[in-house]
Amino acid sequence: MNFEFILVTPNFAPHIALVQLNRPKELNALNLQLMLELKSALKSLDEDEMVRCIVITGNQQAFAAGADIKQMESKTAIDLLKIDQFETWDQIRKTKKPVIAAVSGFALGGGCELAMTCDMIVASESAKFGQPEIKIGIMPGAGGTQRLTRAVGKALAMEMVLTGKFISAAEALKAGLINRVVPEEIYLDEAIKLANEVCAMSPIATQLAKESVNKAFETGLQEGLFFERKNFYMTFASEDQKEGMSAFVEKRKPAFKGH
Ligand code: HXC
Repeated sequence: MNFEFILVTPNFAPHIALVQLNRPKELNALNLQLMLELKSALKSLDEDEMVRCIVITGNQQAFAAGADIKQMESKTAIDLLKIDQFETWDQIRKTKKPVIAAVSGFALGGGCELAMTCDMIVASESAKFGQPEIKIGIMPGAGGTQRLTRAVGKALAMEMVLTGKFISAAEALKAGLINRVVPEEIYLDEAIKLANEVCAMSPIATQLAKESVNKAFETGLQEGLFFERKNFYMTFASEDQKEGMSAFVEKRKPAFKGH
């Protein structure tokens, strides 16, 4: 997979694909092409049977400092409507396999929103999260007011969105925005380690479980419980369910095959 603004390694580790945002001079500002490339890469990786988990990262200085302000500066509302970039973001959210963000440095605006679109976030101690759109006369547009509020609650979300203040990785961990914080030298290793843990599970159960957890953010409790139940039944249609349960009974490690 050859792209201009991202680097994709489908077999970075067994069953783990790595996608690296690669506009280092612009702090990985997310221009439209980069987002289209990301969408296309995630779609291919989602279809690749060898891949069970995807890690998205940037570099030590920046995960991504937001959407590309220089590209947006002269746009009108109608331009944005026609470009319809959120269709791209929606596709990223629909990735079936678990996606982990490995964040170091700036995760701002669209960068923070991209990390929040992933299923889990591993951060380095230098990570800074923020929705600073308000400082340039706009507001978050790719989920910042919704996902951030659901993750950290109204008080902190309101403060971040209305003042543009950044929070540190330690604050983000305390607020429930991210999964773990580790020293900068090992944040990617730690994300791969987490991906490895996920990869050891049945890929079918993993996908169904991810879909069910995400449903909790989209529906009321009754509907969510009903959805969960159907997916739970569905796991019993897999050979991996038989393998997982017989391995438990036979006191051995299961070998999940993804069917
Ligand atoms: C375009 C950007 C950029 C961005 C940084 N750069 N962020 N270019 N869009 N979002 C560029 C700078 O112009 C500069 O290029 C280079 O990257 C290095 O940035 P500096 O500002 O010189 O670095 P520093 O002083 O360390 O400050 C880092 C920073 C600051 C605090 C992250 O760059 C910053 O505030 N960036 C903007 C953050 C932001 O507002 N994000 C939200 C964007 S709106 P040159 O060529 O000058 O050297 C958004 C809406 C999403 O995300 C809606 C959904 C699509």
